[in-house]
Amino acid sequence: MKIFLKLVNNLMAIMIITCISSLSVSAETVAASEQTTPTINVATETKVVEINEESFSCIRDMTPVRHFYVDNLLGDIDSTLAAANNPKGAIYPTGSVVQLVPTEVMVKRESGTFPATGDWEFFELIVNESGSKINKRGFVDVTNRFDGNCFTCHVPAKEKWDFICESGHGCEPIPIDHAMTGALQRSDPRCGEAVPEDGDWMALFKLKAMISIGLTKKWFEDLF
Ligand code: HEC
Repeated sequence: MKIFLKLVNNLMAIMIITCISSLSVSAETVAASEQTTPTINVATETKVVEINEESFSCIRDMTPVRHFYVDNLLGDIDSTLAAANNPKGAIYPTGSVVQLVPTEVMVKRESGTFPATGDWEFFELIVNESGSKINKRGFVDVTNRFDGNCFTCHVPAKEKWDFICESGHGCEPIPIDHAMTGALQRSDPRCGEAVPEDGDWMALFKLKAMISIGLTKKWFEDLF
């Protein structure tokens, strides 16, 4: 009988300990969930990207990456560079600005602004010595001066490369090569004096010829 009582006592003690420890676990769980709520709020707080004509200036004042330039309107250039230099592709952070030529810009807007374009807003600028004028801005319906739709051309690079075409990211190649885009960057009128390199004059000459052929073709199509 004594042994039996001892056994019951021991069992009770074990049960009480188990109960207390499970209580403390659930208390910890509550405490943890209470703690995580404010952290989530901080993480989802959206910083507003203010964009006006002052947001854009000399392309060469931005940070060069391979053959294009990047910046971040919220000051987080390190995260933008990390995305641009990620060999596996990455989602660019809010505020990122990407430019290949002085007149065409992509700006990464606040998360959730326009899911179809991955929150990229497309801009077509008019640039001269006194600065930039926003000619067109928007998401899926902006066209460049050759009547090409920015979104349609960039969408094949959506999945892995966050709409950044470069070469080999799935976009159809454009006939404007890096000799031409480099020459346009070195002669951005917003930067003051051009800083031409060998071959720039010929690259710009070829580009102008291509544009005039394109315009002639459009005039011909419109006529018939
Ligand atoms: C005909 C297709 C086409 C159209 C239209 C077009 N793009 Fe692009 N864009 C490209 C391709 C292809 C590249 C990559 C070129 C390269 O580096 O060889 C590119 C490059 C860029 C880049 C540099 C980053 C990258 O994706 O490589 C930016 C920024 C850009 N385009 C913005 C625009 C904007 C803004 C518009 C509209 C105003 C526009 N593009 C219209 C095809 C297009």
